[in-house]
Amino acid sequence: MTDIVDDNQTATTPAASPRAEYVPPIFGDSPEGTHVWQRVPYNADDYGPVADFATDFDHADPAYNPNAPEVWKQLREGGCPVAHSDRYGGMWIPITHDTVNEVAYDTENFTSRSVVVSVGRPGDLSLPAPIGGAPPITSDPPFHGMARRLLLPAFAPKKIEPWEPEIRLLCLKLLDEIGDITPGETVIDAAVQYAQNIPVNVIGRMLGFPAADEALFRRFVHDALERIAEEPGTSEGMDDLGEYILGQIQDHRDNPRDDLTSYLLNVELEGQPVNDEIAGGMIILLLIAGIDTTWSAIGSSLWHLAQHPEDHQRLLDDPEVITFALEEFLRTYAPVTMARLVAKDNDFHGCPMQKDDWVLLPFPAANRDPLQFEDADTFVVDRRENRHAAFGLGIHRCLGSNLARLELKVAIEEFVTRFPRFELAGDTRWSVGQIRGPRQLPIRILEVAG
Ligand code: HEM
Repeated sequence: MTDIVDDNQTATTPAASPRAEYVPPIFGDSPEGTHVWQRVPYNADDYGPVADFATDFDHADPAYNPNAPEVWKQLREGGCPVAHSDRYGGMWIPITHDTVNEVAYDTENFTSRSVVVSVGRPGDLSLPAPIGGAPPITSDPPFHGMARRLLLPAFAPKKIEPWEPEIRLLCLKLLDEIGDITPGETVIDAAVQYAQNIPVNVIGRMLGFPAADEALFRRFVHDALERIAEEPGTSEGMDDLGEYILGQIQDHRDNPRDDLTSYLLNVELEGQPVNDEIAGGMIILLLIAGIDTTWSAIGSSLWHLAQHPEDHQRLLDDPEVITFALEEFLRTYAPVTMARLVAKDNDFHGCPMQKDDWVLLPFPAANRDPLQFEDADTFVVDRRENRHAAFGLGIHRCLGSNLARLELKVAIEEFVTRFPRFELAGDTRWSVGQIRGPRQLPIRILEVAG
C-alpha cells in the first residue's frame, strides 16, 4: 500500500493521466507553484549508513528491516518515544503504541496526502487533499469517508469468502510447481516460489487484469514503494503504471465485465459517476495495496515457522489454533509502515513538528510495545488478547483485511500441510523501505506429506 501516486512522480504525471511534459523539481521551503518540491537537494550517499536511529533514523537503510524489532527496543529502552531524522528533508518517527495511535487519529495536524516517504513532497499544483492521487488512502476527511464507503462493499466478508477455494487451488498449484523434492536436501525459496505469487494473482483476477501481467504488477509495486531516494522526475515507473491503468479502464469501458474495475467505473459518488482520475487512483491503490503487504506477511510467517518447529507442530496437531496464530503472525511481523505529512506546525510531546515534515507511522513498532502487549517481543501461537495495529489505526484502517487474512490463512495452511517439517537454509534477504518482509527465503524441506 502506498501513496500509490508516488509524489516523486506526480510532479510530471498524475496517477491516471497520460505522460505529461517534464517539470523540473523545485528546491526551497514552500510547495507554492510546484507539482513536487524538495526542501534540500538529496543524495542518499551523503548520509551513509545510520549511526544512531534516535537522531538519524532511516527506514530505507538496508540494516533496518532485518533488525527493526531490535531498533525499536533500543529506542524505547533509551527513552526515545519519537525519533527524528534530517533525511528526506525532515522526518519524525513515533515508536510507542500511544504516539503512533495519536498521530493516526489526528487528521487535523497530519494529512494522508502522501503516505510514502520520499525525497519529493507534493506541491500545491499536484492532486491536493482531501482527495489525493489514490483515494481513499491519500484522502483526508470529509472526502475520505465517501471514497471508503464506495469500496467497502467490494471487500465485505460475503464478497471475499467465496474466493477461498480459488486461493486454495492457487496455493496447491504453486506447491506442485516446486517440483520433485528430496527431503533433507532440497532447498526452495519460499518467498520467490510461493509467497510473492499469491496476492498478485488474486488481486489481478479481482480487478480483471491479464494473468500474464503479474510480474509487471510487482515492478509497479517496487517503483511506487522502494525508489524513494531518487530525484523526482528521474524514473518513468509511475508513468507506466498510469498508462497501464488507463489502458485497463478503456478496455473495461469497451468490454464491461463482472469485476472490480467495472464496478468502480459504474459506481456513483454522492450521486455522480466517478471520474477516470478518481477511479484510476482507486484502482492503482487496490493493485498496489495488497501485493507486497500480503506477500510479506506470508513470507514472515513461514520464516518464523522455519525456526520454530514447536509452533509448526501445534498448527498440525490443533488446526483450530490457526485463528489465533494468524493474528499473532500479523502482530509480531506486521509488514506495513505508513506515513503522513505534518499539516500545520504543532508541538508533539515536545517535538517541534513543522508543516511538511514527514511522520512515519510504524504500526509494526506499536505492536511490539510492552505497555500494550504482555511479552511483546515473544510470539505466542495461541495469544488470546490481541488487539494489534497491523492493519492500521483510525480512519484509514485496512480495507482489504478480510482478503489479507484469507490469503494468509490459506497460504500457511497449505504450506504446513504439504511440508510437515522444514527449516531455514541460509540467509534471508529482507525488503527495503516501508513494507517489511522476506524477499529471499531459503527453506530446506525435511518432510513432504505422503
Ligand atoms: C497483510 C496484508 C495487509 C496489511 C498488513 C495491510 C495494512 C494496511 C494498513 C496499515 C493500512 C492503513 C494505512 C494508513 O493508515 O495510511 C491499510 C490501508 C488500506 N489497505 Fe491494507 N493491508 C494489507 C492488505 C491489503 C489488501 C489485500 C488490500 C486490498 C486489495 C488492502 C487495501 C487497503 C486499502 C484500500 C487501504 C486504505 C484504506 C483507507 O484509506 O481508508 N490492504 N492497509
